[in-house]
Amino acid sequence: MHMLLAPFDVSKVRADFPALDQEVHGHPLVYLDSAATAQKPRAVLEALRHFYEADCANIHRGQHELSERATEAYEAARIAAQRFLNARRNHEIVFVRGATEGINLVAASWGRKNLQRGDEIVTSILEHHSNIVPWQILCDEKGAGLKWIPIDDRGELILEEYEKLLGPRTRMVAVAHVSNTLGTVAPLRQIVEMAHHAGALALVDGTQGTPHMRVDVQTLDADFYLFSGHKVCGPTGIGVLYGKSELLQAMPPYQTGGGMIRSVTCQTTTYDDPPSRFEAGTPNIAGAIGAGAAIDYLTQIGTDQIAAYEHELMLHGMETLSRVPGVRIIGMPRDKAAVISFIIDGIDPHDIGTLLDLMGIAVRTGHHCAQPVMARFGLTATARASLAFYNTAAEIDALANGLLRIAKSLS
Ligand SMILES: Cc1ncc(COP(=O)(O)O)c(C=O)c1O
Repeated sequence: MHMLLAPFDVSKVRADFPALDQEVHGHPLVYLDSAATAQKPRAVLEALRHFYEADCANIHRGQHELSERATEAYEAARIAAQRFLNARRNHEIVFVRGATEGINLVAASWGRKNLQRGDEIVTSILEHHSNIVPWQILCDEKGAGLKWIPIDDRGELILEEYEKLLGPRTRMVAVAHVSNTLGTVAPLRQIVEMAHHAGALALVDGTQGTPHMRVDVQTLDADFYLFSGHKVCGPTGIGVLYGKSELLQAMPPYQTGGGMIRSVTCQTTTYDDPPSRFEAGTPNIAGAIGAGAAIDYLTQIGTDQIAAYEHELMLHGMETLSRVPGVRIIGMPRDKAAVISFIIDGIDPHDIGTLLDLMGIAVRTGHHCAQPVMARFGLTATARASLAFYNTAAEIDALANGLLRIAKSLS
């Protein structure tokens, strides 16, 4: 393995994750499916437990001690998310159910209000379905057009083609920070700047970005940036949507009910300011607190440390897997993070997944909810190993050995 750029004690980190310390089918677990969901450190499990054991109450509405503690913890999580993204203000952080809901919220609320017949939205061929389908539905509803940034054979977005898609009718550019299928890191500064130059807004799906690198929404100048808590070692069912204050302020509610109103009469309702306007009903209080604990944990380890360590791991993975006869890596972008998709000619990716599982190695197989990019490579499925900062070079070697055995026995 290459020399690490920064000292990083992976065995100490692994000790924080109880689920990593187990055997699967008689082998030590090798968890290489963190792009689907990351494992949870004790700090998150303890935060959830503490909430339910000591502070369990509804927020923002009780005059009693437990409700105050719960509200304080929930709002502290918002501030943790604000700092994590370097958002200017804490009310620019909306808690949602996950990345999927974050994109749906923007498409439904901003989109329904602002999109007109003949307007255009630009997305990319690399996107997860959650950054495609909400825009398709919105465009269908509004008579607007959806345009696609293509990729080259390495899996990089072609910016010259992107530039050609931008025009006076472009209203929104919605792209992933990192592709969940190829690991492509998008040149976001350029993408956002070009969108703004054309008079459009930019939404970044940061679901696969936040687990692996430092994010600064002010430097990026993204209008919306969102991610899921469970991919950054937090609980499922919680996500973070960042939106620039003035945009959120001008947007109508997404869902309605309790918690998002200023006043309700029999005749009419006035809405609260963001973020409450977008957090109708009892939110996932424990989830937000757990996500806050996860963010604190990542911050304590250091997002730059994580990025540097994972970069070395990725280089090792690319080198090692590409040496396995028969293995073909799909997606060789120059800027690549945490995801290695591959196929073995003549072997169904699902069989690869099943056989690796018998060796205790967890990878994902299928279309990874990104069928357009699969189609771009003429595939319907790949196997995907995805890395986190708790993985080791030895685990990558175990994967390579497993693939060698599978290739030998099946091809
Ligand atoms: C790039 C990307 N965007 C969005 C999502 C959707 O995330 P969630 O299912 O947590 O809403 C995923 C999930 O894998 C993803 O990888």
